[in-house]
Amino acid sequence: MQPLQSATADPLHGLVSVPGDKSISHRALLLAAMAVGETEIEGLLEGEDVLRTVTALRALGVEITEAAGGKRRLYGVGVGGLAEPDGVLDFGNSGTGVRLMAGLLATHPFTSVLTGDASLRRRPMARIITPLEQMGARLLARAGSRLPMTVEGTAEPIPISYRLPLPSAQVKSAILLAGLNTPGRTTVVEPIATRDHTERLLTYLGARVEVSDAPEGDRAIEVVGQPELKGKKISIPSDPSSAAFLAVAALLVPDSEITLTRIGANRLRTGFYLTLAKMGAALDWQKKDEECGEPVADLNVKASSLSAIEVPAAWVPSMIDEYPILAVAAAAAEGTTVLNGLAELRVKESDRLAAIAQGLRASGVEVEESEDRLVIQGHGGRLPGGGTVRTHLDHRIAMAFLVLGMASERAVRIDDGSMIETSFPGFVDLVNGLGGRIMKEGSGA
Ligand code: S3P
Repeated sequence: MQPLQSATADPLHGLVSVPGDKSISHRALLLAAMAVGETEIEGLLEGEDVLRTVTALRALGVEITEAAGGKRRLYGVGVGGLAEPDGVLDFGNSGTGVRLMAGLLATHPFTSVLTGDASLRRRPMARIITPLEQMGARLLARAGSRLPMTVEGTAEPIPISYRLPLPSAQVKSAILLAGLNTPGRTTVVEPIATRDHTERLLTYLGARVEVSDAPEGDRAIEVVGQPELKGKKISIPSDPSSAAFLAVAALLVPDSEITLTRIGANRLRTGFYLTLAKMGAALDWQKKDEECGEPVADLNVKASSLSAIEVPAAWVPSMIDEYPILAVAAAAAEGTTVLNGLAELRVKESDRLAAIAQGLRASGVEVEESEDRLVIQGHGGRLPGGGTVRTHLDHRIAMAFLVLGMASERAVRIDDGSMIETSFPGFVDLVNGLGGRIMKEGSGA
């Protein structure tokens, strides 16, 4: 446990580069492993979650080395080329790591055992077990479909067409990855579009992925199995979900202005920024560009007075990871904010709905929590703060409430900042370099 305190910040200023996108980093590693030849990855997130995927791939026979300038070099084994690991694969805190890897392993004909930390061992795996078993694999988990889980990959995979019962890019990606070593076409049907990084990167590396409209407004995503993927340079944009914490800090601390450079601007990830703009945030997207099939841009953020908003359930998939920090923005906005359709937040790294509500109350903010909704009474400016927030092994709860402290009268204490390393190594130093005052407890620094 690493308790931290965050006190009222000075105005934030500067050009900021946040670490690489977590979702794309996992996918870059997994897909490069399935390619033939060498892939150089630039901008990989060197956070705990992604490093677990590196370790797991090594245990499956993939060579990954460090190259100059913080790059990684990976020597692909080709589709279907992974080897049986001789130990348990431990994914730490990472739902994306374990679920995507389970997909890949489902069509490799050997047995692996997958586990994670206390938070990950509480999260449901049924969502991937059902489709992957339809493809012919056998997955055996603990009660409640919890990790540890054994994946017995099939030697005779069956291409399926599967309609997602819930909007989840992890489930979609697990199926598409299983489809790589499956003859014929594997199809995922999405009622609501979720982040499409797997599809974009597959296409970039030479696979055939076809996206078409399906009945009732659905989207069908089809991957043609057993492609020859080609190792190629991959450059990873900065993570818009990590940038979100700094953007809100700059919005809430008076007289701030920062520019976040080359962040991922995929429209299936930017719902949070559209929401902030509707709340009155001064956001300006600049230098729009593209990187390995992904849009990127710089984002200029100026301190702004925010107004409350009602966020519909339909927006959830495009901002699923941003609710902890959106709740902080809402707490500082003028008026009552209503966030709808949040049931999925209960099975993230923590029960985020409960963790957000507890954290806001501890910080002097009035909030109503129901099964899938939060109603937040905004303060229209500086927040009271002064409490201790429990983070429940959740990196995003930790960062969100450190940002709340920056915009509060009294310092906010979080019980544990250690999980921040999973997605945003260097967060505290970066924030303090811009004007933040986050301190390790007892150290005075
Ligand atoms: C992710 C998808 C989302 C998101 C997670 C990363 C991904 O999860 O919350 O942080 O990389 O595919 P779900 O697929 O469970 O919605």
